[in-house]
Amino acid sequence: MSTYKIAVIAGDGIGPEVLEEGIKVLNKISELDGSLQFEYTYFPWGCEYYAKHGVMMDEDGIEKLKDFDAIFLGAVGFPGVPDHISLWDLLLKIRKGFDQYINIRPIKLIKGAPCPLKDVKREDVDMLFIRENSEGEYAGAGDWLFKGQENEVVLQTGVFSRKGTERVIRYAFETARKEGKSLTSISKGNALNYSMVFWDQVFEEVAAEYPDVKTASYLVDAAAMLMITDPKRFEVVVTSNLFGDILTDLGAALAGGIGLAAGANINPERTFPSMFEPIHGSAPDIAGKGLANPLATIWSASQLLDFLGYEQYGKLVLDAVEELLLEGKVLTPDMKGTASTSEVGDRVASIVSLLV
Ligand code: NAI
Ligand code: MG
Repeated sequence: MSTYKIAVIAGDGIGPEVLEEGIKVLNKISELDGSLQFEYTYFPWGCEYYAKHGVMMDEDGIEKLKDFDAIFLGAVGFPGVPDHISLWDLLLKIRKGFDQYINIRPIKLIKGAPCPLKDVKREDVDMLFIRENSEGEYAGAGDWLFKGQENEVVLQTGVFSRKGTERVIRYAFETARKEGKSLTSISKGNALNYSMVFWDQVFEEVAAEYPDVKTASYLVDAAAMLMITDPKRFEVVVTSNLFGDILTDLGAALAGGIGLAAGANINPERTFPSMFEPIHGSAPDIAGKGLANPLATIWSASQLLDFLGYEQYGKLVLDAVEELLLEGKVLTPDMKGTASTSEVGDRVASIVSLLV
């Protein structure tokens, strides 16, 4: 019997609603495979907690989480708490505290998923974004000088260390090699004459160690255009924190919408737990109404299974999502359906039992 300890941070808004469905599907897997078990510990952190206790998570939160096998997160953020507080004091604290320096976001147009592009072949939208997740413009380095005065100046510094840049690029090359795919680097060396010239240089250096991996390199603006006009160019993609954040939302739109987009925050050395989450936010506009699409969370549950070494189950869950979309009957309103969040979760769980 293998038991995995999962820390659950359901968070705010639709976070708890969608997470429940992810857990439903994980439980279905463990029900089908008697030897695999999940043990959940719930942490009530988020904006409501902030309202009561003045902090987004406990002071020793990182300490409390560190011995878990994985963290499953819904979403954080709610009107009343400034977004930079909810983001920095919880999500980024965990990503940084646990050195989850790889953010993996699949942009794959699975069967049955809607795509806004006309004339695109389904197989052409199949990218794996590997986003740097620990530094860049999100390092929190900068200053705010002469606040409120006429000569006010703010600085937000992009931080690109050799270690940080090299390790994400190397991880991407390893992934591309393992999957037998090409690797594209997205940067902006023409305008960002320090950080991105450096990025491009490191990419070339590491590329020399992987002569078997076909590479391409684009400027971020051109890449944004090409993702729309010629998505099949992109297989495995490596990019910086900021560019990855933006481009993966574009990618989410290409691959079925925000309701389907999942992301994993990985600490590859497994020194610390990794964290799995849908990439959407807490959607306060639809929270508490059973309208939220749980498929992104279910997809991230599939990433969690992959990460724990149960790739056959990761695939099974994704196949079940695909099947649900093909059936086209049990979908939430964002996918033009009339089903509730929990009805979608139920249906995925029952398709999992049918497919196994
Ligand atoms: P959002 O992703 O919460 O919502 C954007 C739009 O997409 C809304 O119209 C929402 O109804 C819809 N939407 C999002 N997820 C959906 C789902 N699963 N099913 C159906 N519709 C869905 O982004 P927004 O509105 O910019 O941010 C809301 C709050 O979430 C803010 O406080 C923000 O800081 C936070 N946020 C948190 C993230 C996280 O925890 N990882 C990521 C992004 C935003
Ligand atoms: Mg984002």
